[in-house]
Amino acid sequence: MTLTQPTARPAEGRTPSPRRILMCRPERFTVRYSINPWMHPDRPTDTERALAQWRTLVEAYEQLGFEIEYIEPLEHTPDMVYAANGGFVLDGIAYGAKFAHPERADEGPAYLERLGELGYRMHAAVETNEGEGDFLLVGDAILAGHGFRSDASSHDEIAELFGREVVPLRLVDPSFYHLDTALAVLDPTPGREHIAYLPSAFDEASRTVLAERYPDAIIVAEEDAAVFGLNAFGNGRDIVIAAQATGFAAQLEAAGYRPIGVDLSELLLGGGGVKCCTLELR
Ligand code: ARG
Repeated sequence: MTLTQPTARPAEGRTPSPRRILMCRPERFTVRYSINPWMHPDRPTDTERALAQWRTLVEAYEQLGFEIEYIEPLEHTPDMVYAANGGFVLDGIAYGAKFAHPERADEGPAYLERLGELGYRMHAAVETNEGEGDFLLVGDAILAGHGFRSDASSHDEIAELFGREVVPLRLVDPSFYHLDTALAVLDPTPGREHIAYLPSAFDEASRTVLAERYPDAIIVAEEDAAVFGLNAFGNGRDIVIAAQATGFAAQLEAAGYRPIGVDLSELLLGGGGVKCCTLELR
């Protein structure tokens, strides 16, 4: 288990903003079905190891001063640790998830109920969507992935609910089936928007949109994306990433960020990483 401390080098020009997030202990984590190419039910998983690795993520967030809320894992949903999929929260409103696969269906109402308890106005989704797995706020716009999980029809629903611009992005590589596996938001602050992404995970039209909107984006190498390097979450300065994504870490440092590596290799067996375990509360 590696937990790289923030480097001493000052991250000039990058301003951290506090974050409030929701997480779920991987107490029931295992792989007994396969709904993405990373999941192999015949390959044994180690729940204790998943828990220990997940705790290093919690510690990294605690060190950054994040405010962390928790949801109790349901008994029969081993994927519930991937909290990002539980909804999309913005402007005090929680847009509930409606999962594409029946194996995760019960997580939608459970997350929505928890978000209600936390004080958010609940909106149960009509259209299929997997929350922050596919919706990422950048500036005032919501980047919206589709192609594998969230239905494009959810883009209209979310646009109407939040009154924001929604930018559809089509995912084409089954290994990067959620937007947050192919694109990382480094700084969502309006006026300072900055992202990193893997171009080959998107169709040509979406690549054009990304290149035009974010000319200074960090383009991440296939090998860093393949260890879920882009499945990252930070505060606009300190960015928690997969420890294995060393090339991406160097790119982040060069751009003035402080990468913090955590090893979530056990959770990668379910097809998730840092960001997947993290649902932002706004
Ligand atoms: N096994 C989970 C699934 O396939 C992993 C979810 C990963 N979450 C994410 N935000 N990319 O649904």
